[in-house]
Amino acid sequence: MHILIIGAGGREHALAWKIAQSPQAERVFVAPGNGGTLAEPGVENVDLEPTDAEALIRFAREQQIDLCIIGPETPLVAGVSDALVAAGLRCCGPTRQAARLEGSKDFAKAFMRRHGIPTAAYRTFDDREQALAYLDRIGAPVVVKADGLAAGKGVVVAETLAEARAAVEAMLGQGQFGAAGARVVIEDKLLGEEVSFIVLVSGEQVLPLATSQDHKARDEGDRGPNTGGMGAYSPAPIVTPELQQRIMREVIEPTVAGLRAEGLPYLGFLYAGLMIGADGTPRVLEYNCRLGDPETQPILMRLESDLLELCLAASEGRLTEVEARWRDQAALGVVMAAAGYPGAYAKGQPISGLETAGDSDSKAGTGGAGTDMSTDLSTGGSKTKVFHAGTRYDGERTLTDGGRVLCVTALGADVGEAAANAYARAERIRFDGAFYRRDIGHRALKRGTSR
Ligand code: AMP
Ligand code: GLY
Repeated sequence: MHILIIGAGGREHALAWKIAQSPQAERVFVAPGNGGTLAEPGVENVDLEPTDAEALIRFAREQQIDLCIIGPETPLVAGVSDALVAAGLRCCGPTRQAARLEGSKDFAKAFMRRHGIPTAAYRTFDDREQALAYLDRIGAPVVVKADGLAAGKGVVVAETLAEARAAVEAMLGQGQFGAAGARVVIEDKLLGEEVSFIVLVSGEQVLPLATSQDHKARDEGDRGPNTGGMGAYSPAPIVTPELQQRIMREVIEPTVAGLRAEGLPYLGFLYAGLMIGADGTPRVLEYNCRLGDPETQPILMRLESDLLELCLAASEGRLTEVEARWRDQAALGVVMAAAGYPGAYAKGQPISGLETAGDSDSKAGTGGAGTDMSTDLSTGGSKTKVFHAGTRYDGERTLTDGGRVLCVTALGADVGEAAANAYARAERIRFDGAFYRRDIGHRALKRGTSR
């Protein structure tokens, strides 16, 4: 089979790496990919923009692509999935209308209200004066969110009224985020522990993936500005089997049923960002219409099953016939970022230490295309994999090319061992201005659970 993965980040590197291991995969293309997908055995980069539906369709026809998988939210919200399907191609990714669950916070909140899905109380405003008056009435702490896509930067968790007012002024007054911030959602701040709960959906059928936890703040101790994610691990020990059942019953099932009832049947990955309250109640912070980044990297490290088969089953409406098997081990990924991220950062710094024997990696590893990591593991071999996010290859060297540069991911018997393995590998990688959090996994470690 010929597969086309759309996107350029760490999530897409992990998808391509895993899909290429499927015995059914003959050729795996990534549009446009990065320096890591370029070096990945069995994976080819194609220089196409993720939102250029016409060019993607032309390429997919030429190469007789059997399945397209869209990684990021921007093409999904822009309707690239609809365009591919209308051109007769098979695509694992929701329609533009269904992707509004991520593309409009106001749509998502109203949807949850209509379907009784637990979430923070909220109001939506287009008018600056009215928004400010509302803030003055309810006070802080409070959360101000740009309605549209803002690359993870459109959410301000304000501890003071002044911060909240400044966020409203920036979005509705000064036009920060442009059209995406021309409407804001103001909601109550929720307390508790965050969990990423990702499922594969095909109409009414749902296949939950392994649970995970992300670290969104830039600095250790979960301080500093919000980022796209500085590291993640799987499983999330807070999610007991009982809590998982509750999340399925109270969040996922009503979401999927609600989508169908509104004429928006869903195909693809659906991510519920949840806050688990002190009393164990799950509430939705946000929906994403895609896999998380960097959650995907540790999650796919743990997946034993054939990911291509799962995606095909979803796109053929036979998700209930397949199951996802997970390694017993934990996995943890540490994001190495460029100085300045999530603000402005330099690009083009050479990266050293990428090719080290022992990675579950292309050139350095013993395998090649189709290498099953379990073979490496059973022979005491590789436990780590360096997924590239913002990198490019200039013909000689791999250079930094984004804010989040790499996600160094490792398996271990528990979160602590996975962290030790990932950090040992990260220490051997260098580029000017590199930084990473040293405390990824701290919540799981505090719990002291074995996995
Ligand atoms: P979102 O893009 O809506 O997930 O928001 C990004 C991050 O802001 C979340 O991962 C949370 O850490 C935080 N956040 C969003 N909404 C709330 C809320 N209602 N209460 C507390 N924290 C929130
Ligand atoms: N890591 C959070 C996200 O993918 O939205």
